[in-house]
Amino acid sequence: MTTLSSSDIRARFLAFFKARAHAILPSASLVPENDPSVLFNTAGMQPLVPYLMGQKHPLGTRLASSQKCVRTGDIEEVGNHKNLTFFEMLGNWSLGDYFKEDAIKWSYEFLTSKEEGLGLDPARLYVTVFEGDEDAPRDLEAVEIWKNYIPENRIYFLPKKNNWWSPGDNGPCGPDTEMFYDVTPNGLGDMTHDEYVAADDDGRVVEIWNDVFMEYEKKDGLVIGKLAQKNVDTGSGLERITMIVQGKSNVYDSDLFAPVMNIIKDTAGDLYDEKSARIIADHVKASAMLIADGVRPSNKDQGYVLRRLIRRAAIRAKKLGFFEKMEPHAEEYEYSYNVFSDLLSKFFELYEDTDYLGKVSGSQVSSEKHLLVLDEFKKEVEKFSKTLELGLKEFEKNTDPFVLATTYGFPIELTEELAAEKGVAIDRAGFDAKMKAHQDLSRSGSAEKFKGGLANTNETTVKLHTAHHLLLAALQEVLGKEVKQKGSNITEERLRIDFNFDRKVTPEELAKVESLVNGWIAEKLPVMRREMPREEAEALGAEMEFGAKYPDIVSVYTVQKPDDAYVSKEFCGGPHVTNTGDIGVFKIQKEEASSAGIRRIKAVLS
Ligand code: SER
Repeated sequence: MTTLSSSDIRARFLAFFKARAHAILPSASLVPENDPSVLFNTAGMQPLVPYLMGQKHPLGTRLASSQKCVRTGDIEEVGNHKNLTFFEMLGNWSLGDYFKEDAIKWSYEFLTSKEEGLGLDPARLYVTVFEGDEDAPRDLEAVEIWKNYIPENRIYFLPKKNNWWSPGDNGPCGPDTEMFYDVTPNGLGDMTHDEYVAADDDGRVVEIWNDVFMEYEKKDGLVIGKLAQKNVDTGSGLERITMIVQGKSNVYDSDLFAPVMNIIKDTAGDLYDEKSARIIADHVKASAMLIADGVRPSNKDQGYVLRRLIRRAAIRAKKLGFFEKMEPHAEEYEYSYNVFSDLLSKFFELYEDTDYLGKVSGSQVSSEKHLLVLDEFKKEVEKFSKTLELGLKEFEKNTDPFVLATTYGFPIELTEELAAEKGVAIDRAGFDAKMKAHQDLSRSGSAEKFKGGLANTNETTVKLHTAHHLLLAALQEVLGKEVKQKGSNITEERLRIDFNFDRKVTPEELAKVESLVNGWIAEKLPVMRREMPREEAEALGAEMEFGAKYPDIVSVYTVQKPDDAYVSKEFCGGPHVTNTGDIGVFKIQKEEASSAGIRRIKAVLS
């Protein structure tokens, strides 16, 4: 038999169960439709919970699918040989239809049949079953069935911790039987119970399939009794089974990743490191899948996971030199983005047989989904790359993780990982407390917004606020450092600044000021907020309004060029946009005298 591709395996699985009267379901979206209790579908059964609980499924009592899943619980494990954040789960279900006998027979047949299945070697299969406890008996029934296929001394009893499956604290659940495959070169042969457990612990056998006999129900973490119907819920990770079928020792060497890994290897050259490459490959794929399913980077829920995946990939890409090797004139993010875009395009090709990422035609990236994925990915990389370099420098200085998060966009989990690599501890509780206070503050800020008044945070006002800082910086550059702000006022329509200057500002000077501000906007510079003792801010030379009183700990907003040079630094409570690129087009409307020695400029955005 020639080696099966991952697409063959997926197709064979669905055909096998179709031939056994199962209706084939398309993969549901990664984001559960009517289930706010979980962020993502983490198993093939998740979209089927109501039917496992007894509701009638329109397509009948036998179902099969290849379901897209995201699990982030083990995100730190990604980089080892088998953990992934995105994976597909092949599964077949009986909703009160067949039970243990057929479920076990078909699992075995699919794994070992050369004609219809995967043609795996039966001599390398091991099986575990539930040993029994107060909730359910020892599963002797499963053992009797397995004995038709597997020698009894390769069937092991294990406790609930191993052989019981439920999607959470509430819902359907039950004992399961799991299949493992021996991946050692020479084969392990017969093993005692303890030898088997040791082989599982160190990865000489790998779990390839799980048949759950879902006839129980859980409530608040406790098994409360039997369901009205006996269900079967099976699951086999496509990536893992592909690795086994293709005789690879890790998922990244299988056809689901190898072409992407090669691009990373070629681009990184001497800087290549396998773990970083694996993390990039995994995270780029998971991000693409999430974007394709409608998730957008943000600071909460699914969006936060996506943001974290992209930023985590960016940090690794930095390690491999993808941000340094700039093409002439390219901005840093452009280079790294080109690499990411190559990786994304390769994934588009690899998933051509599915509708997950859109269709590829010829060598062209064509579908709308592709463009969307590329565009969203680019925007996030671009945003992060503005603060990445500075953030890493700050990290080296042991800057407070709260500042790294709020100012440099470093998700706390990322800071924790970087710290762990350096062997430094992070005060997570302290971080959480500060973050909560910060959020309470922004919440009260947004409450204020509805009342109008000082804490007006509507979008235009926020943009005008940042434009105000740029304007002051431009005035100082064109008219001289002595120019100081003497007053300011911002409404939803315009900004106004008063400053000391003893003559009319000429139209040429005004044009210069305007084009400086628009230049900084076009440069898409990061706007960052830092909290520091007042003396430190003064020493930094941050602008302060004359006569204003400032507290001991102040917040300073900076706009910085990629080479660290400050465009602007001001004492300010905010709020501001996070990137000057978000401001829009800046226009001076009017320049006039305000009082003796004080000029006034009004400006707008469009
Ligand atoms: N739901 C079970 C699992 O995730 C079987 O699909 O392992």
